[in-house]
Amino acid sequence: MRALVARGAGEAPRVEEIELPAPRPDEVRVEIRAAGVCHSDLSMVDGTLAPPYPLVLGHEAAGVVVEVGAGVGRVAVGDHVVLNWAPPCRRCWHCTHDEPWLCADNGSPATARGRTADGGPLHVTLGLGALAEQVVVPQHAVVPVPAGLPFEVAALLGCAVLTGFGAVHRTAAVAPGDAVAVIGLGGVGLSAVAAARAAGADPVLAVDVSPAKADLALAAGATRFLPADGTVSRAVRALTDGRGVDHAVECVGRAATIQDAWRATRRGGQVTVVGMGARDELVSLSALDIFHSARTLRSSVYGSSDPDRDLPGLAHAVLDGSLDLTPLITDRVGLDEAPAAFERMARGEGARTVVRP
Ligand code: APR
Ligand code: ZN
Repeated sequence: MRALVARGAGEAPRVEEIELPAPRPDEVRVEIRAAGVCHSDLSMVDGTLAPPYPLVLGHEAAGVVVEVGAGVGRVAVGDHVVLNWAPPCRRCWHCTHDEPWLCADNGSPATARGRTADGGPLHVTLGLGALAEQVVVPQHAVVPVPAGLPFEVAALLGCAVLTGFGAVHRTAAVAPGDAVAVIGLGGVGLSAVAAARAAGADPVLAVDVSPAKADLALAAGATRFLPADGTVSRAVRALTDGRGVDHAVECVGRAATIQDAWRATRRGGQVTVVGMGARDELVSLSALDIFHSARTLRSSVYGSSDPDRDLPGLAHAVLDGSLDLTPLITDRVGLDEAPAAFERMARGEGARTVVRP
């Protein structure tokens, strides 16, 4: 089958033939119908992360179960599913303390699975490798969804939307009337904007270096777009009686934007870091300011969400029309055009590209 494979840091990914084994007990084979290109995929190829190569990219996808291994009871052939890139073990300390998104089994960027066309070793991103015609994954890495849910929005539920909504509703617990700033308006940040608006936040200030994101942000529910030009905290304060926002949600993963989020937040407010930055990038905060500002700095892994519990609600909101995710999708392409989507993302263009392998 065909898959998008990264061969090394700094090398453009390319479509290759790969081989996947038949599902073993407790595993399923899923035919991928739609897969989003997420910044974490770009981080796997641009040197921000250091995963093992060759690596099948992709972790945000939906498809149809086409084969099940022995003992699979969770889904059957024909079921529509969304992939979960952090399936919890349900037994470790975090899982048994209501933090399944921090499951001790997860956190490694790649898993060995399948073979390259010449029989060499192969890895898959986050246990999935979803920018491919098919995946073979543990049954707990799929969440069944209603067959009426369009595959392309279902795919986004699996990463960007669950992450952005969870960060706002669960990690930050934004309340009606809260002033919120979202920094970085890709698929994740635009989902956070939509979630903040749905939570009744006002204002919802959307910040990005790319002015082309303004229309996307307003369509997602932002009350105002602010260009990130070095004056973010001043602009945010000017719109919040000089105080700063109750919640800043950082969706880039850079030291500069975490610092912007910190300075744009009021005393006693909360900064939620959603972006995944590089290991060697250090964030500089004043020790006095940490004390004096009384702010809380938190990170949000997978939106502090449990896909098994939280994804069906989002799927139903899409189906009943209360959640419109189509503005998040700005490009629809085949697998052969997926490398160009990585270049667009690196330039900060568009929102999500959905690949139909
Ligand atoms: N200030 C403001 N916005 C910035 C800055 C900056 N200094 N630098 C980049 N951006 C914007 C880009 O213009 C782009 O719109 O951040 C946005 C990032 O969007 P995407 O590349 O589409 O990333 P996305 O998939 O949304 O992921 C965002 O969340 O899960 C993590 O690993 C992921 O760190 C990544 C983040
Ligand atoms: Zn992702």
